Amino acid sequence: MLQHPDALLERLDTLSALMRRRHLWEPRPFILHRLPWEDDHPDLSAWLRRLTTPQILAIEENPFVLQGDTPGVYLEWASASQAATAIGAFAQGAKDAAGLEGPHVRFKIPGRKWTQVRSFAQVALWTMPPGATRIVDWCAGKGHLGRALGAATGLPVRLIERQGRLGPLARRLAGRLRLDVEFIEADALDPGAGRHIDADTVAVGLHACGALTSTLLEGACRAGARAVLVAPCCHHFLGPATSFIPMSRAARDADLPLAPHQLRLSIADDVLAPGRDRRRRAREQSWRQGFDLLVREATGREAFTSLGILPPDAPADSFERFCRAMAAQLDLPLPSRWDPDRAEAAGQERARLARALGLVRALFRRPMELWIVLDRALYLTEQGRPAQLGAFCDRADSPRNLLIASCLP
Ligand SMILES: C[S@@+](CC[C@H](N)C(=O)[O-])C[C@H]1O[C@@H](n2cnc3c(N)ncnc32)[C@H](O)[C@@H]1O
Repeated sequence: MLQHPDALLERLDTLSALMRRRHLWEPRPFILHRLPWEDDHPDLSAWLRRLTTPQILAIEENPFVLQGDTPGVYLEWASASQAATAIGAFAQGAKDAAGLEGPHVRFKIPGRKWTQVRSFAQVALWTMPPGATRIVDWCAGKGHLGRALGAATGLPVRLIERQGRLGPLARRLAGRLRLDVEFIEADALDPGAGRHIDADTVAVGLHACGALTSTLLEGACRAGARAVLVAPCCHHFLGPATSFIPMSRAARDADLPLAPHQLRLSIADDVLAPGRDRRRRAREQSWRQGFDLLVREATGREAFTSLGILPPDAPADSFERFCRAMAAQLDLPLPSRWDPDRAEAAGQERARLARALGLVRALFRRPMELWIVLDRALYLTEQGRPAQLGAFCDRADSPRNLLIASCLP
């Protein structure tokens, strides 16, 4: 776990230096058939291009467990990424945790969500100072985290959530535990939303997307909240902003511009998605590539054809039907004669290459995520608050497992 302001700053510097190797992570192998760095690293390029799909999957799952023939330059980048992102876990003590264990607390909370809620709640119970009079759960959804903390501490709970339709269920679940829970339908991006946090509050946010984490931290600082703990997610979500501006002076000074589409790299790890979703995604990627190859052939243009978000009625049962539907919809030509089986196989091969070459880019995913979360932690220290940053659960339970905690003494 990182907590001393100097340690946070030092880590930001290390990560900034790593992320400045932009030529390695900016070019996207999905849309470029040859990446600029390949000319400088022909051995690495050839090694990646030879990898089989099972080998690629194995490296994606365990990027730091590499085989004997891995080129040295890749080992060097992988170990730099591993060192820069090493971060310990928060202590999860037993203090008050017994209150989490009753069967009613986890009622209606699905398995992985419960593991996240329990791990987060244990960190909160371990770190929160005495004297708080209320829990505020920011972007609470059904209020699972707030309810668990209410059950463990006996404190009243305020749930802030934009989707008012979740209110009745959140109230019903809290009612089973006889908790004092208030559901407030509110937009956490609204500049006035911070009024729901006051000085005696422990404010928590489990998977508060991008800008929602920012408004939580700003609100907690303004109110002088006793404690604020947040696990950010969807770092590319900017709310009404059109560009990413770091919250901390330190990160702004690092001068590492991140365009909105580049921020997506920070969450581009689907290794933990259910197998069915991963298979569907893999097929979709290869169909996109196969379609792109056909359009290139028909037009003679060497540029990637993006399909954007697929329409819900895009054919999913046959590659040929998929291509004809997309071509008609986007008014794009297909070759006058083409063999659907060969074109589909070509798409699969292109998708394999894109995924293999993407292993280099993937080494920068966690560094970018940690850089963004560190920026939020440093904002707290610049506001005169303490800040701790660490993992609150295993990556297997959630890839978005970083947590910032700031508890006033
Ligand atoms: C990823 S979910 C997390 C929910 C809950 N914290 C949990 O872990 O189960 C994000 C939640 O933020 C809510 N949300 C999104 N935008 C919001 C906004 N502008 N104001 C308040 N809530 C918002 C969503 O409706 C959703 O319930």
